[in-house]
Amino acid sequence: ATANIGVVGLAVMGSNLARNLAGREGNTVAVFNRHPDRTRTLTAEHPEAGFVASESYDDFVASLARPRTAIILVKAGAPTDAVISELASRFEPGDIIVDGGNANFHDTIRREADLKASGIHFVGMGVSGGEEGALHGPSLMPGGTAQSYETLGPILRTIAAVAPDGEPCVTHVGTDGAGHFVKMVHNGIEYADMQLIAEAYDLIRRGTGKSPAEIADVFAEWNTGELESYLIEITAEVLRQVDAETGAPLVDVILDEAGAKGTGAWTVQNALDLGVPTSGIAEAVFARSLSSRRAQREAAADLPGPETEWKVDDVDGFIEDVRQALYASKIVAYSQGFDEIIAGAEQFGWDIHKGDIAKIWRAGCIIRARFLNRISDAYAEDPSLVALAVAPYFRDAITGGQAPWRRIVATAAQAGIPTPAFSSSLAYYDGLRADRLPAALIQGQRDFFGAHTYRRVDKPGVFHTLWSGDRSEITIESSN
Ligand code: 6PG
Repeated sequence: ATANIGVVGLAVMGSNLARNLAGREGNTVAVFNRHPDRTRTLTAEHPEAGFVASESYDDFVASLARPRTAIILVKAGAPTDAVISELASRFEPGDIIVDGGNANFHDTIRREADLKASGIHFVGMGVSGGEEGALHGPSLMPGGTAQSYETLGPILRTIAAVAPDGEPCVTHVGTDGAGHFVKMVHNGIEYADMQLIAEAYDLIRRGTGKSPAEIADVFAEWNTGELESYLIEITAEVLRQVDAETGAPLVDVILDEAGAKGTGAWTVQNALDLGVPTSGIAEAVFARSLSSRRAQREAAADLPGPETEWKVDDVDGFIEDVRQALYASKIVAYSQGFDEIIAGAEQFGWDIHKGDIAKIWRAGCIIRARFLNRISDAYAEDPSLVALAVAPYFRDAITGGQAPWRRIVATAAQAGIPTPAFSSSLAYYDGLRADRLPAALIQGQRDFFGAHTYRRVDKPGVFHTLWSGDRSEITIESSN
């Protein structure tokens, strides 16, 4: 046994992670793939990695030093279960199986529980940063036992992305499914971030008539300020790209139907279960669904829009408004995502440090952004912060940006430009800060048709009005 870590599944993510591991001091990496061709290609192409390659599970397991530690990077679902069972039947107590795929955290909880009795540690680990991240430094979100992290942590710290302050972007997120839960929410925020950027682009393009290449310059400029982030950076790259075949901007040639592999939907499904309003994330997921409903879009294509033509007079002022609306909406999206993490931690019994999550998202992952420093600062200053939006920095940012935010949402509505994420974020903000909500009326309606009862503002207890009787109020439950 010569390898301190192994990788199973050598598609691009697995190969890149294996190469990343092999390139770091102190690691010897065992590799295995179901089809040995791929293993042979990888080892032939990368002799410098010094991989310990195996063509059977027996050899692979025998090549691992104890505690045996193997990272699985195969398709989520049944293929992952198949590999886990192959490894588990050969591993011994104290050994560690890590699933680095985008697994559903409920599956991770189940798998961890199944393996517990055998003494094998199962770690569900979120890996973000795509193929490049896997190779050069991903953001890593491992769950599982604290004990497994004693072995795993030092290895993961060698390959993780490094934040500007020199800290590797990895932390022990929490037990069992915590890592995959946090990765799921990361992806939900990713959906919201992307949708907000797309709405900003659409507004600028339709409002000012600027070309994609010109708008690329706007995003590149934004990337020098508080919006600085990977997604803003790549947006400029995508908008600048010209299609080789037609000479048109690539963005005009790409079919406008957004795909989705499911993690965004999971984020929203779980938010619904947890009762956490992640409306910006939900709108982003739904916007992708709407884009793909081709038949409905075609049938609706001649429905009327606003009668007056939209024209932006002050182009620079408008673009600055869009920038501020984007920033304010982005704060809401992250705030909602962190709310879901807090609610998930409570529900599933995870001791998740919010500030540490913000820290490990500062580099390597898809949503890496300058302002994540502000989020970790906010949680460091006030660990029991109830909503990110009320932390001093974010409160100031939203206060400064709210007038442009409102102008943009109003303008978009009048111009007939869909801005579901901008609009819902603003509605969320106004809902959150409202002194009184019309929820009182809803309680009245519920009590009317279903005797669902209500509470009062002026005294404790639970009450019901005899709607079909004399409409007097009865006390269902007094306070003592
Ligand atoms: C990451 C990404 C990645 C995700 C893809 C595709 O953090 O590296 O979130 O894990 O799978 O971005 O996601 P969709 O196909 O759902 O857009």
